[in-house]
Amino acid sequence: MKTKILVTGGLGYIGSHTVVALLRANYEPIIVDNLDNSRLGILDQIEKITGTRPVFHNIDLCDEAKTAALINSEKGLEGVIHFAAHKAVGESVSEPLKYYRNNFNSLISILKAFEGRKLNLVFSSSCTVYGQPDLLPVSEAAPVKTAESPYGNTKQIAEEILQDVAKADKTKQIISLRYFNPVGAHETALIGELPAGVPQNLVPFVTQSAIGKRGPITVFGADYDTPDGSCIRDYIHVVDLADAHIAALKLQESGKLTGNYDVFNIGTGKGYTVLELINAFEQTTGVKLDYKIGERRAGDIIKVWGDVTKSREQLGWEAKFGIKEMMRSAWAWEQYLQNNQIN
Ligand code: NAD
Ligand code: WQD
Repeated sequence: MKTKILVTGGLGYIGSHTVVALLRANYEPIIVDNLDNSRLGILDQIEKITGTRPVFHNIDLCDEAKTAALINSEKGLEGVIHFAAHKAVGESVSEPLKYYRNNFNSLISILKAFEGRKLNLVFSSSCTVYGQPDLLPVSEAAPVKTAESPYGNTKQIAEEILQDVAKADKTKQIISLRYFNPVGAHETALIGELPAGVPQNLVPFVTQSAIGKRGPITVFGADYDTPDGSCIRDYIHVVDLADAHIAALKLQESGKLTGNYDVFNIGTGKGYTVLELINAFEQTTGVKLDYKIGERRAGDIIKVWGDVTKSREQLGWEAKFGIKEMMRSAWAWEQYLQNNQIN
């Protein structure tokens, strides 16, 4: 019998790569997604990659009754990987209630449905909880800073909710993974990030600019206290990130999780500046980018990269892919999208 895992937001960017990783690792993923920020065609793409079409439920997880009915009808569910959330930082500032409503209600629906039942839960958190860390690389022991945005606040509070639930019910095993900056795409170029509208994140803007869908890239500030003046991030290949979820499930299954709630950094442990990333894209793809140095972006973190010792030692996970494979795969996916429609 394969272990059945519910993957909320499983048609999204990180969720779809994790569904592929779960199938490869011989799990049975069950996808729930309301297609708010994803397309049904991703299910076909997952099938093309793996030869398996996972079960898919189109449900809004804010609907507690429907979520409970689904969880009760899917017999033998052993775990949940909870990706479903809104994630646009800027939009969360202008529409905070949209973010608090969706990100909390979806989480609470899941937790309510498993009340009084054993559950292994893996939650998508973010390095945004660290704000601008005082010490780099930033470890899990670093303080959580006042959130810069309602989006960031949903991650901080969700971590607190999960900690409280774990305290109250020792049969729950909960892991929050704090992702650094996920980029890249599956090696088949059949799944990847599908940004809605103008990309707010660096790498989709880079690939869309390179292919001619957008104008020049603006580097948001080159006068910071960093080696070349541009901001530093810890970019993590989405396939490595997907594998971290399998490692988290395995740790829960082994019964070796310290306590029944823990957090792990998921990054490479290495930081790149914006200009270094642009250079890596050009070197790897042979495509010249048009970019200009612009103003600083309000609220930007100057530099952050993760201490990944705990993940390596306790999760038994570490990133395999470097910046070149991140850029190569992101570019292959952009080229795929130019010739193929995903509906
Ligand atoms: P995504 O938008 O591609 O995927 C999220 C999926 O959840 C979408 O398919 C969306 O349709 C679905 N969804 C949203 N609300 C739902 C609801 N109420 N009911 C059912 N489905 C719903 O985002 P992603 O980049 O794959 O991110 C996944 C998770 O990781 C999110 O929780 C996000 O906050 C977190 N995260 C992302 C990043 C990043 O940079 N991409 C970084 C850190 C953390
Ligand atoms: C990366 C770097 C920009 C676009 C956001 C969220 C965070 C997390 C990940 C979920 C920065 C620079 C960008 C551009 C640029 N998400 N940049 N020109 O800022 O690390 O974080 O996504 O939890 O919460 O805030 O990622 O991709 O927006 O930016 O120069 O057109 O690229 O200034 O230094 P960021 P990003």
